[in-house]
Amino acid sequence: MISDHRQYVHLEALKGWINDPNGLCFCNGKYHVFFQYSPDSPYGDTLRCWGHFESCDEAKSWTYTGIALRPDIPEDRSGVFSGSAVVSDNKIHIFYTGNVDDGGVREAYQIYVTMEDGIHMSDKKVILKPSDYPGSCSCEVRDPKVWIEDGKWKMVLGAKDKDGKGCVLLYEADSPDDWHFVRQLSKDGLGYMWECPDMFELGGQTFLGVSPQGLEHEEYRYQNVYSSGFFRMEEGELKDFIEYDYGFDFYAPQTFVNEYGERILIGWMGIGDIPYTNPTAEKGWQHCLTIPRKLSVTDDGALRQWPVIHHELYGSMEEVRDGEEKKIKLPCDIVAVIESDPYTLKIDGAEISYDDNELVLDLSHGDVGQGRTVRKVKTGKHKTLRIIADRSSLEVFISGGRYVMSTRFYPSDDEVLISAKGGGFIVRDISRMEINGFE
Ligand code: FRU
Repeated sequence: MISDHRQYVHLEALKGWINDPNGLCFCNGKYHVFFQYSPDSPYGDTLRCWGHFESCDEAKSWTYTGIALRPDIPEDRSGVFSGSAVVSDNKIHIFYTGNVDDGGVREAYQIYVTMEDGIHMSDKKVILKPSDYPGSCSCEVRDPKVWIEDGKWKMVLGAKDKDGKGCVLLYEADSPDDWHFVRQLSKDGLGYMWECPDMFELGGQTFLGVSPQGLEHEEYRYQNVYSSGFFRMEEGELKDFIEYDYGFDFYAPQTFVNEYGERILIGWMGIGDIPYTNPTAEKGWQHCLTIPRKLSVTDDGALRQWPVIHHELYGSMEEVRDGEEKKIKLPCDIVAVIESDPYTLKIDGAEISYDDNELVLDLSHGDVGQGRTVRKVKTGKHKTLRIIADRSSLEVFISGGRYVMSTRFYPSDDEVLISAKGGGFIVRDISRMEINGFE
């Protein structure tokens, strides 16, 4: 059947444009996923709001409950921009950026609201205004990520300094509405603006995630218009910057801790200002979020990502041998074993090949990539690939999730041919995750 490219296991809106995941949390038995939303324009050219999904069954199904936050005070009149949530005293404490952009004069306010029942918000309170940022900063300061550590409230903000260099501002507070500046973190040569920072502890180490803009493109790194990655921190200093994802469509991820104490990452499966297209926009919607990914730390201090899909969504399993071709209905979960080098896996017109310690994702054949061409990553030797293939996306987890490549792809049919050379694979059906609440 001709595919309408609707995603079946990824959060997406029925209409309009979505970008960053916001306010991810688990509170009183429910998962909350807020997101940057322009419900009236699939191209994102109307004011940003926060849309809201919730799940009471561990992400087996979701309900869209509507617009949770919209611009309605002077300090957020040009958009309710990205932010985060902290659960404390059975309440969701939300922090976001109020964007003000009156024809070139730009201001950013950090705003605080609380939510008790999952839907209704308290009054908005401005907690940081332009005069509260350090004098070294430009007017671009946004995307508060807040957490509580040893009884203290902590916040990181993404920013650009007055010399045009990306940085992160660290703030602290004794209560959620009384913040003071602690310090600025940065590193040379990593772009002009750092968006959507996220600081967290995992495996006894501290990580700082950021989405930098303005990195110089290289053959194996920073291949997209904007990038996204993390630093491991040592004694407050930032170590090497490592990308979260090497595919075409990944940006502005955020992490949170689930009910089992695991750190989960969800990203936007999209990037702003891309030189390729998403044909769903013509039908009224654009973009989705990634599959939730459980994070863990590798022996060499990097992060691994591993997809989390509710086990009841899984159906039958089939083994496909080296050289065989199979027609498969999307979505599915593929586990490939690389037996010889080179190895190639084809999913419709998308080609994933491993040769001489490097993985190449090639979407340049036919219409499947809609302008996407080739992305590469140096992986070293590895033996397994796991791919979550939805009806218009692929997420490739390499070497146990040490490297990930996420991309949108647009096969014309919802049944696709899959084949491999150089090793077999196992493919498992996944059924549609319910999303209720859209009219
Ligand atoms: C990242 C970003 C954020 C901003 C939001 C606006 O994609 O640019 O910095 O808060 O999107 O939608």
